[in-house]
Amino acid sequence: MKKLIVANFKMNEQPNEVKQYFIKFVSQFTGVRADVVICPTFVNIPFARFLTDGSVVKIGAQNVSDEEQGAFTGEVSAKMLKAYGVEYVLIGHSDRRIKFKESDKLINKKIKTALKNGLKCIVCVGESLADRNTEQTYEVIRKQLEEDLRGLYENELESVIIAYEPIWAIGTGNNASVKDVENAAKVIRKVILENFSEKASRDIQVLYGGSINEKNYSPLLNSAGIDGGLIGGLSLNVNAFLNIVNSVK
Ligand code: 13P
Repeated sequence: MKKLIVANFKMNEQPNEVKQYFIKFVSQFTGVRADVVICPTFVNIPFARFLTDGSVVKIGAQNVSDEEQGAFTGEVSAKMLKAYGVEYVLIGHSDRRIKFKESDKLINKKIKTALKNGLKCIVCVGESLADRNTEQTYEVIRKQLEEDLRGLYENELESVIIAYEPIWAIGTGNNASVKDVENAAKVIRKVILENFSEKASRDIQVLYGGSINEKNYSPLLNSAGIDGGLIGGLSLNVNAFLNIVNSVK
C-alpha cells in the first residue's frame, strides 16, 4: 500500500511561489511510492488546483467552517471547497485548537459538515509537552478522538484519516521516536476499535506529523500502524519534499 503524504503549507507561500512550486512538483512527482495531498491557504487553492489539474496531486484545505452557509463573515464552507475540487481538509490542527481556541465540540461539528459535503477529513490529535511530562498522552488522544468522532456512522470513518501530531514535536526539530509513534498509533486504533469496529480500527489511515525531515522520515513513516505523514516546514522546500515523496517505501 502506498504511503499517504500530506503537506501543510500553513500561512506561507505567495501566489508566485505557489506557481513555481506546483510547476516543479507536478513535473517531478512520480506518484509511485506515495499519494500526495497538498494543503495551501484558501486564497491559493484555485491556483493550486489549476496547476495540478490532470495530475495525481490532490489538494486539501487547512480549515473549513462548521456551518453550511450564511452570515459567517470570514468563513469558507465545505461546499465551496468541494466546488473548487478540494478533496481533503485538515481539521483540529493544534494551531487551530490552541491559537483559535477550537474545542472538540466545534471540531466534531466541522467533521460532520465536511463529511456531509463529500470532503475527506484529516483529523489532527496530539498531546502537549505538559501532557507528555505528566504521562497523560494516551488519555489526551483518547478524549480528543472520542469527542471529535462522536456520533459518526461507521461508514463515514472511511473518509476520516487520523494524524498524530504531538504538539511538542511540531516545528521544534524534536520529532517523536518510532516507539512514541507506534504507541500512539496503537492507542488510536484501540479507541476506534472500542467506539466503532475491528474493521474500522484496522482500515483507518493513521499519519504521523511533527518535525519530519529528510533524515528521519523513513523510520517514522514505516513505524508499525502508521500509513503516512503530515509535513509542515519541510514541505515548503519543493526539492526536499519531492525527495521524500518519491523515495519513501
Ligand atoms: P512541522 O513538520 O513543521 O513540524 O509541522 C508539522 C505540522 O504541523 C503539519 O501539520
